[in-house]
Amino acid sequence: MKIRVLGSAAGGGFPQWNCNCRNCAGLRNGTVRARPRTQSSIAVRGSDAAGWALINVSPDITAQMQANPAFQPGRSLRDCAITGIVLVDGQVDHTTGLYMLREATRPWPIWCTDSTYADLTCGNPILNVLGHFCGVERQRIDLAGSPFAISGVSGVSWRAIAVPGKPAPYSPNRDKPVPGDNLALVITDDVSGRSAVYAPGLGAMDERVWQAMQSAACVMVDGTFWTDDEMIRLGASKKHARDIGHLPQSGPGGMLEWLAKLPHDTLEVLIHINNTNPILDEDSEQARELARRGVEVAWDGMEIEL
Ligand code: MLT
Ligand code: MN
Ligand code: ZN
Repeated sequence: MKIRVLGSAAGGGFPQWNCNCRNCAGLRNGTVRARPRTQSSIAVRGSDAAGWALINVSPDITAQMQANPAFQPGRSLRDCAITGIVLVDGQVDHTTGLYMLREATRPWPIWCTDSTYADLTCGNPILNVLGHFCGVERQRIDLAGSPFAISGVSGVSWRAIAVPGKPAPYSPNRDKPVPGDNLALVITDDVSGRSAVYAPGLGAMDERVWQAMQSAACVMVDGTFWTDDEMIRLGASKKHARDIGHLPQSGPGGMLEWLAKLPHDTLEVLIHINNTNPILDEDSEQARELARRGVEVAWDGMEIEL
Protein backbone atom coordinates (compact mmCIF):
# COMPACT_ATOMS: atom_id res chain seq x y z
CA MET A 1 0.00 0.00 0.00
CA LYS A 2 0.99 3.56 -0.50
CA ILE A 3 0.35 6.46 1.88
CA ARG A 4 0.54 9.94 0.45
CA VAL A 5 0.61 13.01 2.68
CA LEU A 6 -1.72 15.59 1.17
CA GLY A 7 -1.47 18.13 3.97
CA SER A 8 1.06 18.00 6.80
CA ALA A 9 0.11 21.17 8.69
CA ALA A 10 -2.34 21.60 11.54
CA GLY A 11 -5.40 23.87 11.36
CA GLY A 12 -4.49 27.18 9.72
CA GLY A 13 -1.82 25.66 7.47
CA PHE A 14 1.65 27.08 7.02
CA PRO A 15 1.95 29.98 6.64
CA GLN A 16 -1.35 30.79 8.32
CA TRP A 17 -3.15 33.63 6.55
CA ASN A 18 -3.18 36.04 9.50
CA CYS A 19 -0.09 34.91 11.37
CA ASN A 20 3.15 36.82 11.84
CA CYS A 21 4.92 34.39 14.13
CA ARG A 22 8.61 33.82 13.41
CA ASN A 23 7.89 30.84 11.15
CA CYS A 24 5.00 32.34 9.15
CA ALA A 25 6.62 35.74 8.67
CA GLY A 26 10.00 34.11 7.96
CA LEU A 27 8.55 31.81 5.32
CA ARG A 28 6.86 34.77 3.61
CA ASN A 29 9.94 36.99 3.57
CA GLY A 30 12.45 34.23 2.88
CA THR A 31 14.39 34.43 6.16
CA VAL A 32 13.26 31.00 7.38
CA ARG A 33 14.13 27.91 5.33
CA ALA A 34 10.92 25.87 5.37
CA ARG A 35 8.31 24.37 3.08
CA PRO A 36 4.76 25.71 2.94
CA ARG A 37 2.23 23.13 4.06
CA THR A 38 -1.51 22.65 3.61
CA GLN A 39 -3.93 21.41 6.26
CA SER A 40 -4.08 17.92 7.66
CA SER A 41 -4.95 15.01 5.38
CA ILE A 42 -3.49 11.81 3.94
CA ALA A 43 -4.58 9.40 1.20
CA VAL A 44 -4.04 5.65 1.00
CA ARG A 45 -4.13 3.25 -1.93
CA GLY A 46 -3.81 -0.51 -2.11
CA SER A 47 -3.10 -2.70 -5.11
CA ASP A 48 -5.44 -0.75 -7.40
CA ALA A 49 -3.75 2.45 -8.63
CA ALA A 50 -7.10 4.11 -9.24
CA GLY A 51 -8.63 3.55 -5.81
CA TRP A 52 -7.71 5.88 -2.98
CA ALA A 53 -9.14 6.44 0.49
CA LEU A 54 -9.09 10.02 1.72
CA ILE A 55 -8.38 10.36 5.42
CA ASN A 56 -9.75 13.68 6.64
CA VAL A 57 -10.94 16.36 4.24
CA SER A 58 -9.12 19.61 4.77
CA PRO A 59 -10.27 23.05 3.63
CA ASP A 60 -7.30 22.78 1.20
CA ILE A 61 -8.66 19.68 -0.56
CA THR A 62 -9.06 21.37 -3.96
CA ALA A 63 -5.40 22.51 -3.96
CA GLN A 64 -4.38 19.06 -2.73
CA MET A 65 -6.30 17.45 -5.61
CA GLN A 66 -4.50 19.68 -8.08
CA ALA A 67 -1.15 18.74 -6.57
CA ASN A 68 -2.01 15.04 -6.94
CA PRO A 69 -3.04 14.21 -10.54
CA ALA A 70 -3.48 10.53 -9.55
CA PHE A 71 -6.86 11.47 -8.08
CA GLN A 72 -8.20 12.32 -11.53
CA PRO A 73 -8.11 9.16 -13.67
CA GLY A 74 -10.30 10.82 -16.36
CA ARG A 75 -12.55 7.82 -17.07
CA SER A 76 -15.77 9.80 -17.48
CA LEU A 77 -17.12 13.34 -17.56
CA ARG A 78 -17.23 13.52 -13.75
CA ASP A 79 -14.66 11.28 -12.11
CA CYS A 80 -12.40 10.88 -9.07
CA ALA A 81 -10.16 8.08 -7.83
CA ILE A 82 -11.21 8.63 -4.19
CA THR A 83 -13.64 5.86 -3.33
CA GLY A 84 -14.18 6.50 0.38
CA ILE A 85 -13.53 8.95 3.18
CA VAL A 86 -12.43 8.26 6.76
CA LEU A 87 -12.63 10.92 9.47
CA VAL A 88 -10.50 10.65 12.61
CA ASP A 89 -12.53 13.38 14.32
CA GLY A 90 -14.96 16.18 13.54
CA GLN A 91 -12.41 19.00 13.71
CA VAL A 92 -12.89 21.93 11.33
CA ASP A 93 -9.52 21.33 9.65
CA HIS A 94 -10.45 17.68 9.00
CA THR A 95 -13.97 18.14 7.66
CA THR A 96 -14.51 21.53 6.03
CA GLY A 97 -13.25 20.25 2.67
CA LEU A 98 -16.37 18.09 2.44
CA TYR A 99 -18.15 21.22 1.21
CA MET A 100 -15.70 21.31 -1.71
CA LEU A 101 -16.54 17.71 -2.65
CA ARG A 102 -20.30 18.31 -2.94
CA GLU A 103 -20.33 17.90 -6.75
CA ALA A 104 -19.73 14.13 -6.46
CA THR A 105 -22.08 12.09 -8.62
CA ARG A 106 -22.91 9.61 -5.86
CA PRO A 107 -23.21 9.78 -2.07
CA TRP A 108 -19.79 9.80 -0.36
CA PRO A 109 -19.10 6.74 1.76
CA ILE A 110 -17.87 8.33 5.02
CA TRP A 111 -16.47 6.27 7.89
CA CYS A 112 -16.69 7.91 11.32
CA THR A 113 -17.60 7.14 14.93
CA ASP A 114 -20.98 7.84 16.49
CA SER A 115 -19.69 10.88 18.41
CA THR A 116 -18.13 12.42 15.30
CA TYR A 117 -21.32 11.68 13.34
CA ALA A 118 -23.35 13.42 16.06
CA ASP A 119 -21.07 16.47 15.91
CA LEU A 120 -21.25 16.60 12.10
CA THR A 121 -25.03 16.41 12.02
CA CYS A 122 -25.69 18.70 14.98
CA GLY A 123 -22.99 21.12 16.25
CA ASN A 124 -21.61 21.52 12.73
CA PRO A 125 -24.25 19.92 10.49
CA ILE A 126 -22.07 19.61 7.39
CA LEU A 127 -23.30 16.09 6.63
CA ASN A 128 -26.89 17.35 6.60
CA VAL A 129 -25.88 20.11 4.19
CA LEU A 130 -24.21 17.53 1.92
CA GLY A 131 -27.55 15.75 1.87
CA HIS A 132 -28.76 18.58 -0.36
CA PHE A 133 -25.94 17.90 -2.83
CA CYS A 134 -24.25 14.53 -3.39
CA GLY A 135 -25.41 12.96 -0.12
CA VAL A 136 -23.57 10.81 2.38
CA GLU A 137 -23.49 7.05 2.84
CA ARG A 138 -22.43 6.92 6.45
CA GLN A 139 -20.35 3.92 7.56
CA ARG A 140 -20.05 3.36 11.30
CA ILE A 141 -16.65 2.93 12.93
CA ASP A 142 -17.14 0.98 16.13
CA LEU A 143 -14.86 1.37 19.13
CA ALA A 144 -14.31 -2.36 19.55
CA GLY A 145 -11.62 -2.10 16.91
CA SER A 146 -13.40 -4.30 14.36
CA PRO A 147 -11.46 -4.31 11.07
CA PHE A 148 -13.14 -2.68 8.10
CA ALA A 149 -12.43 -2.40 4.39
CA ILE A 150 -13.03 0.44 1.98
CA SER A 151 -14.54 -0.54 -1.32
CA GLY A 152 -12.16 0.28 -4.17
CA VAL A 153 -9.08 0.31 -1.95
CA SER A 154 -7.96 -3.27 -2.39
CA GLY A 155 -5.65 -5.18 -0.08
CA VAL A 156 -5.82 -2.71 2.79
CA SER A 157 -7.51 -3.26 6.16
CA TRP A 158 -8.44 -0.63 8.65
CA ARG A 159 -8.95 -0.54 12.39
CA ALA A 160 -9.66 2.39 14.71
CA ILE A 161 -8.49 3.00 18.26
CA ALA A 162 -10.14 5.68 20.40
CA VAL A 163 -7.42 7.97 21.75
CA PRO A 164 -7.36 10.66 24.44
CA GLY A 165 -8.19 14.03 22.94
CA LYS A 166 -10.92 16.61 22.55
CA PRO A 167 -13.88 16.99 20.25
CA ALA A 168 -13.90 20.12 18.09
CA PRO A 169 -14.40 23.53 19.74
CA TYR A 170 -18.00 23.74 18.38
CA SER A 171 -18.96 20.37 19.90
CA PRO A 172 -21.44 20.35 22.79
CA ASN A 173 -19.03 17.78 24.28
CA ARG A 174 -15.92 19.97 24.04
CA ASP A 175 -15.42 19.90 27.82
CA LYS A 176 -16.61 16.36 28.40
CA PRO A 177 -14.91 14.22 25.75
CA VAL A 178 -16.22 10.73 25.06
CA PRO A 179 -14.36 7.77 23.52
CA GLY A 180 -14.58 8.11 19.75
CA ASP A 181 -14.10 11.89 19.59
CA ASN A 182 -10.53 11.26 18.36
CA LEU A 183 -9.15 8.20 16.63
CA ALA A 184 -5.86 6.65 15.74
CA LEU A 185 -6.13 4.53 12.58
CA VAL A 186 -4.19 1.32 12.10
CA ILE A 187 -3.85 0.83 8.36
CA THR A 188 -2.48 -2.56 7.27
CA ASP A 189 -1.30 -3.91 3.94
CA ASP A 190 -2.91 -7.35 3.68
CA VAL A 191 -0.02 -8.82 1.65
CA SER A 192 3.03 -7.52 3.48
CA GLY A 193 1.26 -7.46 6.85
CA ARG A 194 2.96 -4.13 7.53
CA SER A 195 0.93 -1.39 9.17
CA ALA A 196 0.95 2.33 9.76
CA VAL A 197 -0.54 4.05 12.77
CA TYR A 198 -1.96 7.47 11.88
CA ALA A 199 -2.85 9.72 14.83
CA PRO A 200 -2.75 13.44 13.96
CA GLY A 201 -4.42 14.32 17.26
CA LEU A 202 -3.12 12.41 20.27
CA GLY A 203 -3.72 14.16 23.59
CA ALA A 204 -1.81 11.62 25.66
CA MET A 205 -0.23 8.23 25.15
CA ASP A 206 -2.59 5.42 25.92
CA GLU A 207 -2.02 1.68 26.28
CA ARG A 208 -3.95 0.57 23.19
CA VAL A 209 -2.41 3.04 20.77
CA TRP A 210 1.03 2.39 22.25
CA GLN A 211 0.60 -1.35 21.61
CA ALA A 212 -0.33 -0.62 17.99
CA MET A 213 2.61 1.76 17.57
CA GLN A 214 5.06 -0.85 18.84
CA SER A 215 4.06 -3.34 16.16
CA ALA A 216 3.74 -0.83 13.30
CA ALA A 217 6.27 -0.37 10.51
CA CYS A 218 5.43 3.34 10.45
CA VAL A 219 3.92 5.77 12.92
CA MET A 220 2.53 9.10 11.76
CA VAL A 221 1.73 10.89 14.97
CA ASP A 222 0.71 14.23 16.45
CA GLY A 223 3.38 16.81 15.61
CA THR A 224 1.29 19.88 16.45
CA PHE A 225 3.41 21.56 19.14
CA TRP A 226 7.02 21.36 20.30
CA THR A 227 6.29 22.66 23.81
CA ASP A 228 3.18 22.41 25.96
CA ASP A 229 3.04 26.20 26.44
CA GLU A 230 3.99 27.14 22.85
CA MET A 231 0.83 29.13 22.14
CA ILE A 232 0.77 30.76 25.59
CA ARG A 233 4.39 31.99 25.34
CA LEU A 234 3.64 33.39 21.92
CA GLY A 235 0.56 35.22 23.23
CA ALA A 236 -1.65 33.40 20.70
CA SER A 237 -3.77 31.43 23.16
CA LYS A 238 -4.34 30.83 26.86
CA LYS A 239 -4.33 27.08 26.46
CA HIS A 240 -1.66 24.44 26.77
CA ALA A 241 -1.13 21.89 23.98
CA ARG A 242 -2.42 19.11 26.22
CA ASP A 243 -5.57 21.17 27.05
CA ILE A 244 -6.59 21.08 23.38
CA GLY A 245 -5.77 17.42 22.78
CA HIS A 246 -2.19 17.53 21.51
CA LEU A 247 0.75 15.87 23.26
CA PRO A 248 3.79 18.12 22.76
CA GLN A 249 7.06 16.68 21.45
CA SER A 250 9.48 17.98 24.09
CA GLY A 251 9.58 17.63 27.85
CA PRO A 252 8.83 14.81 30.28
CA GLY A 253 6.32 12.34 28.85
CA GLY A 254 6.42 14.17 25.51
CA MET A 255 6.17 12.47 22.12
CA LEU A 256 9.93 12.25 21.62
CA GLU A 257 10.36 10.21 24.78
CA TRP A 258 7.77 7.75 23.49
CA LEU A 259 9.22 7.56 19.99
CA ALA A 260 12.67 6.80 21.45
CA LYS A 261 11.24 3.59 22.91
CA LEU A 262 10.02 2.21 19.58
CA PRO A 263 12.01 -0.46 17.70
CA HIS A 264 14.94 1.01 15.72
CA ASP A 265 13.49 0.19 12.30
CA THR A 266 10.13 1.95 12.90
CA LEU A 267 9.64 4.83 10.49
CA GLU A 268 8.72 7.75 12.78
CA VAL A 269 6.93 10.72 11.26
CA LEU A 270 5.47 13.81 12.93
CA ILE A 271 2.36 15.11 11.16
CA HIS A 272 -0.32 17.81 11.75
CA ILE A 273 2.34 20.41 12.52
CA ASN A 274 1.25 23.79 13.80
CA ASN A 275 2.75 26.82 12.07
CA THR A 276 4.30 27.96 15.36
CA ASN A 277 6.31 24.74 15.80
CA PRO A 278 10.08 25.39 15.51
CA ILE A 279 10.61 22.02 13.75
CA LEU A 280 9.25 23.66 10.57
CA ASP A 281 12.41 25.79 10.37
CA GLU A 282 14.85 23.38 8.75
CA ASP A 283 17.80 25.23 10.34
CA SER A 284 16.41 25.19 13.89
CA GLU A 285 18.02 23.39 16.82
CA GLN A 286 14.75 21.43 17.19
CA ALA A 287 14.90 20.22 13.56
CA ARG A 288 18.49 19.11 14.17
CA GLU A 289 17.41 17.24 17.27
CA LEU A 290 14.77 15.35 15.27
CA ALA A 291 17.38 14.46 12.65
CA ARG A 292 19.68 13.11 15.38
CA ARG A 293 16.82 11.01 16.71
CA GLY A 294 15.80 9.75 13.26
CA VAL A 295 12.35 11.36 13.48
CA GLU A 296 10.97 12.78 10.22
CA VAL A 297 8.75 15.81 9.73
CA ALA A 298 5.94 15.11 7.25
CA TRP A 299 5.71 17.33 4.17
CA ASP A 300 3.05 17.71 1.51
CA GLY A 301 3.71 15.09 -1.17
CA MET A 302 5.64 12.72 1.12
CA GLU A 303 5.00 9.10 0.15
CA ILE A 304 5.38 5.99 2.27
CA GLU A 305 5.20 2.51 0.74
CA LEU A 306 4.47 -0.40 3.08
C1 MLT B 1 -6.96 20.92 16.44
O1 MLT B 1 -6.34 20.06 15.82
O2 MLT B 1 -6.78 21.12 17.65
C2 MLT B 1 -7.99 21.72 15.70
O3 MLT B 1 -8.00 21.33 14.37
C3 MLT B 1 -7.80 23.18 15.85
C4 MLT B 1 -8.61 23.91 14.83
O4 MLT B 1 -9.85 23.84 14.81
O5 MLT B 1 -8.01 24.60 13.98
MN1 MN C 1 -6.40 19.98 13.75
ZN1 ZN D 1 2.42 31.35 12.43
